[in-house]
Amino acid sequence: MKLSVIGLGHVGLVTAAAFAQWGHEVMAFDIDASRREHLRRGKVPFYEPGLQDLFDEAVAGGRLTVVDDLGGTLAGTDVAFVCVGTPPLPGGGPDLSYVEQVGSAVAEHATGDLVLVEKSTVPANTGRRLEQVIAREQRRVGSSHRIYVASNPEFLREGNAVEDTLNPDRIVYGTSSVHARDALREVYRVLVDEHDCPVVETEVATAELIKHASNAFLATRISFMNAVAQICDRVGADVEVIARGMGLDDRIGPAFLRAGIGYGGSCFPKDVDAFAHLAREVGYEFDLLESVRAINSGQRDLVLRKLEGELWHLAGKSIAILGAAFKPGTDDLRESPAIYLAEQLLEQRAKVRIYDPVALNAVAKVLPDAERFDDPLEACSGAHAVVVATEWSEIRNLRVEDLREHLAHPIIVDGRNVFDPDTFIEAGFRYHSIGRRSVSPI
Ligand SMILES: NC(=O)c1ccc[n+]([C@@H]2O[C@H](COP(=O)([O-])OP(=O)(O)OC[C@H]3O[C@@H](n4cnc5c(N)ncnc54)[C@H](O)[C@@H]3O)[C@@H](O)[C@H]2O)c1
Repeated sequence: MKLSVIGLGHVGLVTAAAFAQWGHEVMAFDIDASRREHLRRGKVPFYEPGLQDLFDEAVAGGRLTVVDDLGGTLAGTDVAFVCVGTPPLPGGGPDLSYVEQVGSAVAEHATGDLVLVEKSTVPANTGRRLEQVIAREQRRVGSSHRIYVASNPEFLREGNAVEDTLNPDRIVYGTSSVHARDALREVYRVLVDEHDCPVVETEVATAELIKHASNAFLATRISFMNAVAQICDRVGADVEVIARGMGLDDRIGPAFLRAGIGYGGSCFPKDVDAFAHLAREVGYEFDLLESVRAINSGQRDLVLRKLEGELWHLAGKSIAILGAAFKPGTDDLRESPAIYLAEQLLEQRAKVRIYDPVALNAVAKVLPDAERFDDPLEACSGAHAVVVATEWSEIRNLRVEDLREHLAHPIIVDGRNVFDPDTFIEAGFRYHSIGRRSVSPI
C-alpha cells in the first residue's frame, strides 16, 4: 500500500520504518526542516536501539522516502498517519493544535480519497473534531475527496520501540467506515498473518480511550506501589518482596510494580493529566488520577528530603546523579525525574555532576550548569552523595568498592532500588532506597 507518515519523532519514524519493512511504500514528512535534512543524510536524530538499522534498510530498499512538503507526501496515498506531538498545556489538557494543523493541511493537499489515522495520543472525540476541521477546510478549497478519519493508538515504549512495533502485543484501531477498517486491516495484514497479533477493531472514540486508559492504568500501578513503598518505609517492610508476592498472583501479574522515584517521559505524565482533564470536561472528577499524579511528584521530592536528611544544607555540596534519561534505552529527557532533581539541587546551589551513557548532549541543552560525565565513577569523584536516577545496566553493574573509593562520603540514594542493601551496608554506606530498609550503619 501507499502510506504517508506525518511527524517523524519517536513514534513516526519507527512507524514509517516498520511499515516499509512490511512491504508498504512510505512517504514521510516532518515540519522540522533540520530533522528532514538529518534524515536525508541518513541519520536518525535521536537514540533508539535498532532504529538506525531499520531506517537504513527501509531507505536502501527504496520503500521509505523523506519528502519536503506535505502535498508530496500525500500524492496517491491510501492511508496517512498523524504522528505529531500532543504536548501538555498548562491546564492539563493536551495541545492538539499540531493535530489540527495536519488535519487542515491534509484536507487542503489530498489528491484523492484517503484514510487519515490518528496515531498521536489524543483524547476521546478528537476524531470528531478532526472531521469538522477537514469538512471546513474542504469547503474552503473546494475539495470533494473522501477523507475517512480513524484512530490507531500507538503503544510502543521508547528504548524498545523497534521491537514493540515489529512485534506488538496488540493492534487497536477505531473506524467509522468499512473503507477505513479494510484499509487498516491491509496495513497490518503482515502482523496478523505472520505473527498472529491480536487485533481490537472498534469505533474511533473507543480506540482513542483505550490509549489513555492504558497509560493511566500503568501509571496507577506505579503510583500504587510507590504509595505502598511509603508504608514500607514506616513499618520496616520491603516493597520489592511485596511486589514479587503480589506479582505472582495471576490476576495481578508482575509488570509495573516497581517502586522508585516515579515515572517520567513524554507519555505517562501528559496522558494521566490529559485523561483527568477529559474526564472533567465531560463532567466526571477522576480523583484517582489526581492522586496518581500527586504520589508521583512526591517520590521525586522524597529523594531531596533524603539528601537533606544526610547532608543538611545542600548549598555548596556536590551531588552525583547517575542517569539522566527518564528510563534506560533512550536519550529522552522529557519529564525525567533526574532532570527535576538536578534542577532542584541547582536551585539550592548544590553542584550537580551527572552521568548518562547516551543522553549527555541532550543534558547540555537543558542543564547547562551541571557538570557532565561519560563515566559514572568520574561523576562520583569527590561527591558528597550519589543518587541513582535511571536503571541503566552501566549503573546497575557498578561495584560497591569502586563507588566507595570515588565518593567523598559513602552516602547513596538508590532511587531505582537497583542495588542490594546488605552489600552497601557491609561496605559502610548510608544506603537509602525506596520502600526498603533505609540504613545508617555507622
Ligand atoms: N514517545 C513515545 O513513547 C510514545 C508512545 C506512544 C504514543 N506516543 C504519542 O505519539 C505522539 C508523538 O509522540 P513522539 O514521542 O513521537 O513526539 P516527538 O516530539 O518525538 O515527535 C513529534 C514530531 O512531529 C513533528 N511535527 C509537529 N507538527 C508537525 C506538523 N504540523 N507536520 C509535520 N510534522 C510535525 C515534530 O517536528 C516532531 O518531529 C504523541 O501524541 C505521543 O503522546 C508517544
